[in-house]
Amino acid sequence: MRLESFDRNKSYFAIIFLPQLWMYAWCQSVPEPYSIQVDSSISVQEGLCVIIPCAFTAEHKTTFKNSTGYWKSNYETNIASSNASVPIVKENFHVMGNPDNGDCTLNITDARKQDTGTYFFRFEGSKETSIKYNYLSDKITLLVTDLTQKPEVSNLGHLRVGEEVTLTCSPPGNCDGTDPTITWWKDNLDGIWGKSSSVTFTPLLSDHKTSITCEVNYPAVRASSQKTIVLDVQYPPSINILIGPSGTIANHTVVLNEGDSVTLNCSVISNPAAYVTWTKGENNVVSSVTGQGLELYLMDVTSSDINTYSCSAWNQHGDTSDFVDIILQSKNEDPEVKLSFETSPTPAPEIVTAFSPQCDDFAFSGPRNIDFMILGAFIAGNLLILSLIALALLCCVRRNMKKRQEAIINNGEELSTPRTASVYKNLNE
Ligand SMILES: *[C@@H]1O[C@H](CO)[C@@H](O)[C@H](O)[C@H]1NC(C)=O
Ligand SMILES: *[C@@H]1O[C@H](CO)[C@@H](O)[C@H](O)[C@H]1NC(C)=O
Ligand SMILES: *[C@@H]1O[C@H](CO)[C@@H](O)[C@H](O)[C@H]1NC(C)=O
Ligand SMILES: *[C@@H]1O[C@H](CO)[C@@H](O)[C@H](O)[C@H]1NC(C)=O
Ligand SMILES: *[C@@H]1O[C@H](CO)[C@@H](O)[C@H](O)[C@H]1NC(C)=O
Repeated sequence: MRLESFDRNKSYFAIIFLPQLWMYAWCQSVPEPYSIQVDSSISVQEGLCVIIPCAFTAEHKTTFKNSTGYWKSNYETNIASSNASVPIVKENFHVMGNPDNGDCTLNITDARKQDTGTYFFRFEGSKETSIKYNYLSDKITLLVTDLTQKPEVSNLGHLRVGEEVTLTCSPPGNCDGTDPTITWWKDNLDGIWGKSSSVTFTPLLSDHKTSITCEVNYPAVRASSQKTIVLDVQYPPSINILIGPSGTIANHTVVLNEGDSVTLNCSVISNPAAYVTWTKGENNVVSSVTGQGLELYLMDVTSSDINTYSCSAWNQHGDTSDFVDIILQSKNEDPEVKLSFETSPTPAPEIVTAFSPQCDDFAFSGPRNIDFMILGAFIAGNLLILSLIALALLCCVRRNMKKRQEAIINNGEELSTPRTASVYKNLNE
């Protein structure tokens, strides 16, 4: 009994609800006879282009013969048509897909602000089938925005001084529409640098860090966009060795006194920054840096600092080097001693020669004393010479008068030289 009543309830349930479930399932599985798949919202920048993929069915089919596709903004206005004979209002809208294949793809070029709007697809089968349908449930909304995309400038790899290079400007958007005009500017050149998509030039040192601009112009929509880049022109290093902040070095030689301190400044011009070294002698690298220069300090120089110092600079484009010989001034050439010599009036050559050996001894006894002693010696020497000349003249006169008495005169001449030397020696001591 119980079982029976249960079965009865079950069949009652089935009779009431099953048809409704079937209806629901059928509605879900059977497609609409007219459907379209397309993005509802599209944005494109002014002057650029966009392809809007689109597929449709009509009476459940996707293949047709002699059909026509239209894109329309309202019932009356054909924006674009697959039948080239149909009058249309927007030359820059193209029905790109073949409606015979269920393809309603729309291609928009040279987008203009006034193209912003809402559009829908209309399908017409061949005259025999009389299928006509406006896909109003899935309209597209097109928004044309300001042009903000920039062109690309290619081939900026490694610009090298003196090496020809070609730069290419590619308009944004990779579009098939009307080609924009291209203009190049260079900030160290007046006027237009180039008017085609590429420019070829040979970079100079002066081009480093100059900026160039590529401008793309879409005259149809009066929109333009530009890209500016800064040139990075690379070159091998060149170096200049200075003493201290600005002293030039003659003949690669710096003469120092013992105990002096000096800065050798090796300044480097290069791009990119060079690897710079100071080397003492053949291969003793004393300091190195990657940069625009390197200073070498020589403090309290001694004879061990006497050497050749070389500065070398290297980058991937080349290398160079220069050197300085450090030499110590010898003590014999003490400038103060030289000075006292030069200021005293130069006497007869014989006397200077006789004087020179004693000069070194003076240097250590004190300069002021030397001046007075030299002056005294000079006066005494001159007096002596004058008296000798007078004596000689007297002798000549005598010789002429008394040719036999020559021995005395000879003695006088023999005496003169040693006596002079001993006088000087006494003065000097
Ligand atoms: C398609 O049109 C051409 C002429 O335009 C006609 O010759 C052809 O028979 C048509 N085909 C169909 C299937 O309508
Ligand atoms: C194309 O359009 C023209 C003008 O409306 C019409 O005469 C012609 O039959 C159309 N062609 C097709 C294949 O629909
Ligand atoms: C879009 O249309 C333009 C104009 O007809 C054409 O030049 C271009 O090739 C089309 N784009 C594609 C991807 O076919
Ligand atoms: C070394 O040379 C560089 C560049 O000329 C300069 O900037 C720097 O001040 C110099 N250094 C010295 C100590 O002179
Ligand atoms: C430079 O040095 C060379 C040899 O080292 C020498 O012949 C020349 O005279 C020097 N020039 C100057 C201006 O000192």
